[in-house]
Amino acid sequence: MPNITTSPKGLVDAPKKYCKIILTEDAPNWHRLVETEGGGLEYRMGVGKWSEVNRRTFRSLVRTIVQTAKSHQLEYIALELSNSLFPKLKEFGDDWAARTIAENLSLASYEYRKYKTKEKKEKQLKEILVCGLGDKKLKTAFEEGLTIAEGANITRDIANATGDDMTPDALAKAAQITLKGTKATVKVFNEKEIVKMGMGLLHAVGKGADDAPRFIVIEYWGAGKKEKPVVLVGKGITYDTGGLNVKPSGSMHEMHLDMSGGASVIGAISAIAEMGLKKNVVGLIPAAENSVSATSMRAGDIATSLSGKTVEILHTDAEGRLVLADALTYAQKHYEPALMVDIATLTGAALVALGQHASAIMTKDDVLAQKLVKLGEESGDLVWPLPLWDEYKALLKSHRADISNIATNFSRFGGCIEGGTFLSHFVEKNIPWVHIDIAPRMNSIASDKLAKGATGEPVRLLVQLIKQS
Ligand code: BES
Ligand code: ZN
Ligand code: ZN
Repeated sequence: MPNITTSPKGLVDAPKKYCKIILTEDAPNWHRLVETEGGGLEYRMGVGKWSEVNRRTFRSLVRTIVQTAKSHQLEYIALELSNSLFPKLKEFGDDWAARTIAENLSLASYEYRKYKTKEKKEKQLKEILVCGLGDKKLKTAFEEGLTIAEGANITRDIANATGDDMTPDALAKAAQITLKGTKATVKVFNEKEIVKMGMGLLHAVGKGADDAPRFIVIEYWGAGKKEKPVVLVGKGITYDTGGLNVKPSGSMHEMHLDMSGGASVIGAISAIAEMGLKKNVVGLIPAAENSVSATSMRAGDIATSLSGKTVEILHTDAEGRLVLADALTYAQKHYEPALMVDIATLTGAALVALGQHASAIMTKDDVLAQKLVKLGEESGDLVWPLPLWDEYKALLKSHRADISNIATNFSRFGGCIEGGTFLSHFVEKNIPWVHIDIAPRMNSIASDKLAKGATGEPVRLLVQLIKQS
């Protein structure tokens, strides 16, 4: 990762070793690397009309600068971006711009090389100098952006690791290591304790694997214990083979990313603790490997959840909702949540519904849904609502148990909503709750201008949600 530094001075004063990034109103694909009279380097980049630049294209522009610097093997670059250039950005304030620049420089700089044995041969980007940051308020916003991006990059590191390395126990250790030295505490329940507690669903999902399940509890009491916490529940399936309803080849190899929801809870709380926010946050991560063996749960098995409800497991690949159900019940038994947010790579159907640009949100609280859509636009972690109407509940009526984990007629229609509907059975009516299906954002796509693999979403969204709660 390059160092990302700031200077109160303007870009004109940047020392010669820095290649200066100069934005122009030329077409966005226009660019020139030129040597100036004084012997310095300038990279001139078209961004299109200033008047057209909006929040989405601004973020993309910042990321393009990093991508370009890497592809030209520039070692030192300097830039100055003021949102006063862009009329559409003015209403969001200088501090939004400073935070956004920092976040996206850092997110675009991230690379994952844990399993590469050779160093890159090309020259590496060593430093990005951001000029014109003299104002204290802007500097603080910039630092905050770097902290949030670091939380997202930690999330990416945890998610990108193989299922072999990132076992449930390793995920618990990653939470402990990440949060060490902060005011957040981590408690880990082992398999015996999970069974004793009555988490029959988490146990059922994990029992086929050699690496036993864990239940990870993170607490951060930034506002003192009297205030109700926001509870973040993250799916922690460290590898999803599908279980005995095994996934076909081509659909399995990326399933080490199936703990991305859990990883985002660790990343978000790490950023929140680092920022010292005066907010209360609890993170719950039910962690298990959904494996294939003689001890795996079977299709047709019935397990008893922590809530006492019995669940007919009609499909072993719909395991995420099982582990989340027990974690949601735990949240309501042990805390008085002001809000519960679960984050999960829950369904392939979410990708069918939305493509790969936004996560799906489901909640019965329309005001909360609109707030999240707005925060999505502000942070860059886009989300879009799907309905959670009672009509969908009929899908899951089991004749053998209290509820089944997929539609009893095996219909795939509305699969994303079906996942949210299952979870809604484990949420008491008076508790505000939103389900975020992040499967669409599990992997980056070319237009993200990020390294391949985990995106670190929705850490930016979660931090803003808690900050503004
Ligand atoms: N982890 C998967 C969902 C997933 C699929 C995330 C592709 C990202 C990309 C989940 O556990 C799963 O397998 N869901 C099933 C549910 C079905 C059996 C009702 C699915 O989506 O097919
Ligand atoms: Zn699955
Ligand atoms: Zn899964």
